[in-house]
Amino acid sequence: MPTPNITNIQHPLIQHKLTLMRDSNTPSAEFRQLLREISHLMAYEVCRDLETEMVQINTPLEAMASPKLKGKKLCLVSILRAGNGLLEGMLELVPLARVGHIGLYRDPETLNPVQYYLKLPDQIDMRLTIVVDPMLATGHSAIAAVQRLKENGASHIKFVCLLAAPEGIDAFASAHPDVPIYTAAIDRELNDHGYIMPGLGDAGDRIYGTK
Ligand code: URA
Repeated sequence: MPTPNITNIQHPLIQHKLTLMRDSNTPSAEFRQLLREISHLMAYEVCRDLETEMVQINTPLEAMASPKLKGKKLCLVSILRAGNGLLEGMLELVPLARVGHIGLYRDPETLNPVQYYLKLPDQIDMRLTIVVDPMLATGHSAIAAVQRLKENGASHIKFVCLLAAPEGIDAFASAHPDVPIYTAAIDRELNDHGYIMPGLGDAGDRIYGTK
């Protein structure tokens, strides 16, 4: 099995906010706000190696060469629906990014992920594509989503989650060893229902107040 290419972002602010998110007493509005704040901090780390190029500008005082992001605008892809919680915050930090969405459900008989929605920006082959989903649990949807993106031409892909289970990390790294994973925590294990333990519960339900 390939060694997972994983960055566990251990920033104290992220860890503090994540503790508040895990707490079952935290209401949806606060949960969403915390997720937004963590997304900003994670985007900062995930975008650390973006290429820049020098451009000529004029400050009010003189001309200077200054760095700007190089190449095509990057693409953020949300795995519906919980991915939208991470997407919103990341988009605030990278407002010029293009956005894609992918919807998958699990076939109750085969248990395979089935795609019900896919909308991607053009020229995805020329963009860094950052896939977001708060929970890397079994890894099935993340693996399937990245597979669809590759089939549509994406070749430079990163995957960002909030919590990852060891089982999901191993499965994802086996399926897509070329795609680095960024997470804010690696939890103990999956339970029999595929929930991350200790986790934070159902991310979609906690974001949107459903149950
Ligand atoms: N999806 C969730 O929302 N929570 C988990 O713990 C696992 C998958």
